[in-house]
Amino acid sequence: MLLVTMPDGGSSHIRSVCFVVPTYNEADNIEAIVRQILGLAGEDLTVHLVVADDSSPDGTGKIVEGLANEFVTLLSGDKQGLGSAYSRAFSHVLSELSVDAIVQMDADFSHAPADALRLIAALADADVAIGSRYTAGGTVDPAWGRRRRLISKCGNLFARYVAGLYRIKDCTAGFKAIRTQALRRAFPLRLPVQGYVFQVASLHALFISGARVVEVPIYFADRSAGVTKLGRKDVVEFFVHVWWLRLLSRKTFIKFALTGLTGVVVNLASFEALLVSGLNPYICSALAIELSIVWNFFVNNYWTFRDRVVKSRKRIRGLKFNAVSLVTLSISFSSFVLLRWLLPQEPLVIAQFLSIFPAVLANYFANSYWTFKADAT
Ligand code: GDD
Ligand code: MN
Repeated sequence: MLLVTMPDGGSSHIRSVCFVVPTYNEADNIEAIVRQILGLAGEDLTVHLVVADDSSPDGTGKIVEGLANEFVTLLSGDKQGLGSAYSRAFSHVLSELSVDAIVQMDADFSHAPADALRLIAALADADVAIGSRYTAGGTVDPAWGRRRRLISKCGNLFARYVAGLYRIKDCTAGFKAIRTQALRRAFPLRLPVQGYVFQVASLHALFISGARVVEVPIYFADRSAGVTKLGRKDVVEFFVHVWWLRLLSRKTFIKFALTGLTGVVVNLASFEALLVSGLNPYICSALAIELSIVWNFFVNNYWTFRDRVVKSRKRIRGLKFNAVSLVTLSISFSSFVLLRWLLPQEPLVIAQFLSIFPAVLANYFANSYWTFKADAT
């Protein structure tokens, strides 16, 4: 048996794991998933299972109670969201069990229990192994429609680049094996998130604490029974919290984000005002975006990037600024058009709000690395 010494002194071989499976109305799946997970235990591997159920009205918790034993624990709570359930379960495992790793996975067979063994094996020289849909060799069930695929891809790209996790291809994955030691180092306590963004927030915490992350390709199947629980609240929290993650690690970016916040107010207030005046919503969108860009430029110029030494401060920058705002405008406006198509039933202002985010990112990079780039001294 090969034992590699970890930088933190731990031994690399995984002998015991605890699966953490969050459930909300998974009565049709839970018994089978519990049995398949327990079936992974072997001579070299002890398997525990914690089911974090949010008092599912369909009786999922009751079924788990019936299956509970020395290795299977039901952890019930109120319905707060996927992230809260995970936080609760992770701290339970860290305080009550002594296992080498945690494996988190969905209850709906999107993640094949057998693949967990490949994730655990990958921990031989990593702290986190992601069951990845988007790394080479990973795939998603063709039954996932175009819309679902696009939403997942966009959310994932957004998380990668905003939260600074661009080296990781599947940042929103719900299938991961994590060494408990790495988890302790990254976040011994609960993470301040309630919903699906937990996946990104936990990965981010692990990543910045120095955990070694690898991706293992998986086939992500569409759920076999029941429906997805991803809700509007999760989506909003996702887009807001990913920016927060970025904020945690950048200083100029904090100023830029605060400026952006005032820009959001300018954007949405003028959007609403223009709508009231009876103009076509698409024209209102474009005008409101442009107004907020001009606003942001002035605040960034005189505050955010004030301390950057830049030659020819006014003329060149004015030109560059115009070029950047043109790009920002088109990104934001295309996002608005795309979001109207993706979320036709949502109020206009939601699309306008969400369309701000991808543009802000492009705007930041363009301004930081070009418009306000410090001159070499
Ligand atoms: N306890 C609890 N509370 N469990 C929940 C909640 C909740 O509020 N919401 C969802 N779950 C459970 C579900 O019962 C399921 O076992 C798992 O979390 C994933 O939920 P799904 O509703 O099946 O998610 P999905 O298929 O749309 O999303 C998948 O992709 C996401 C994005 O890539 C999952 O793999 C997610 O983990 C992943 O983040
Ligand atoms: Mn699912």
